[in-house]
Amino acid sequence: MLKGKHIIVGVTGGIAAYKTATLVRLLVKAGAEVQVIMTPSAKEFVCPLTFSTLSGKPVISEFFTANTGQWNSHVDLGLWADVMVIAPATASTIAKMANGVADNMLVTTYLSAKAPVFIAPAMDLDMMRHPSTTRNLELLRSYGNMIIEPAEGELASHLIGKGRMEEPENIARVISDFFAPKDLAGQRIMITAGPTYERIDPVRFIGNYSSGKMGYAIAEEAARRGAEVTLISGPVSLSVTNRSINLIKVESASEMYRQCVDLWPSTDCAVMCAAVADYAPETVATSKIKRERDEVPVIHLRKNRDIAAALGQTKREGQILVGFALETDDEQINAIGKMERKNFDIIVLNSLRDKGAGFGTDTNKVTIFCADGQTRPLPLMSKSDVAKEIIDSITAFEHEA
Ligand code: CTP
Repeated sequence: MLKGKHIIVGVTGGIAAYKTATLVRLLVKAGAEVQVIMTPSAKEFVCPLTFSTLSGKPVISEFFTANTGQWNSHVDLGLWADVMVIAPATASTIAKMANGVADNMLVTTYLSAKAPVFIAPAMDLDMMRHPSTTRNLELLRSYGNMIIEPAEGELASHLIGKGRMEEPENIARVISDFFAPKDLAGQRIMITAGPTYERIDPVRFIGNYSSGKMGYAIAEEAARRGAEVTLISGPVSLSVTNRSINLIKVESASEMYRQCVDLWPSTDCAVMCAAVADYAPETVATSKIKRERDEVPVIHLRKNRDIAAALGQTKREGQILVGFALETDDEQINAIGKMERKNFDIIVLNSLRDKGAGFGTDTNKVTIFCADGQTRPLPLMSKSDVAKEIIDSITAFEHEA
C-alpha cells in the first residue's frame, strides 16, 4: 500500500522521538519516500543524522539552510506529500497546529499541506487530559486530521496513564490501512473466533486448541477495508490492533450464541470462524471437584446450540453467511454437506491432513466453496493472506448475487 507514497514524518520534541526512527524505517521498508521534518526541540532528543540515514534524505528543520541560504519551501513540501504524520506530537505542537501558530518549519508545512494528516500525540497523562489539549485535539479532528490515540502505560515521568505514543508498527499500519481500498465501507460484519470454554467446575473446562488467529486476521482485514467489524471472541491470548474493531469477549458457546443471535439482524455478513464446543457439561459444579472422592466423577454432557445453523435459519435476502469446516476425512463432501445444512453462502475448508493448516499455526491451507458452485483451492499461505482471499470471495459473491 505504501509503495511510492510520499510521506512527511514530522518529529517534535518528546522522548518518544526515539521510536520515530523505527517508524521511518518501517515506512521506507514498505517502499515509501520519507521526508523528515524536525522541530528545533526534537533535535535535543534524536540527532538528525539518525533520520537522514534511515530516510535517505537530508532532514529539514529550518526555513533556510544556514550555509547556502537555500530556502526550504514548506509550500512545495506540503504539495509533495501524499500523507503527513506527526509522531510524536507534543502538546505544544498540537496547540500550534490547532491555532495556526506558524513559527517553525513543521507547522508551516502542516498549514500548507493538502494531504491527509495523522497525529500521534505523546505526553504526560495530566497534559494529555488537560482541557486545553482535549480542545486542541478536538479542533484538529474538526479540520479532518486523524488522531492516532496514545496508549496507556508507563510514561517518561514513571507515572502510569494515557500518553504513550502508539507503537511505530501500529502507526505504520494505520497509514498503510488508509491507502487500502475501502470496498467494504458501510458494511457491518460479524466474526466469531477462538474456542469456547464449557465449565466443569470453578477451575476446569472443556475446550479445544483453537488460537483464534484466523478469525482475528479476518477481522483485521475486514476493518482495513472499511467494514464496521464486531469480533465475538472466545478466550484467546490475542488482541486486536485496529481500534475500530468492536471486540466482544465471551467464554462459553451459549454466551457466543446470545451475542451472535442479537447482532445478526443488523449485520450484512457473518463469518463463523470460532471452534465452538459441541457439548457442555449438563451441570457445573459450584465447588472444585476433589480427587479424594471414592468414585471417578462422570460428566454428563448436553449438546450446545449450533450458532451458525441458527443464523442460517433466519438469514434474510442480501445477508451473507460464511462458515468454516475443519475436517479429517472426506473433506470436500463433508464441507459441502455442512454448507447446505447450515445455509452458508460460502464455506472455508481446512483439512487437518494438510501440513501448516488448522489450529495454532500462522499459516493455513484452505479451499473456498461458494453456494453458486465455485471452488477456489488455495496454496499454503499466511493467515492474513488467507483472510484477504476470504474477504475477496465475500465481495465477489456479493457482486454476483
Ligand atoms: N459452528 C457454530 N456453532 C456450533 C458449532 C459449529 O457456529 N455450535 C460453526 C463453526 O464456527 C463453523 C461451522 O459451524 O463455521 C462448522 O463447524 P464444525 O465444528 O466443523 O461443524 P459441526 O457442525 O460441529 O460438525 P462436526 O463437528 O460434526 O464436523
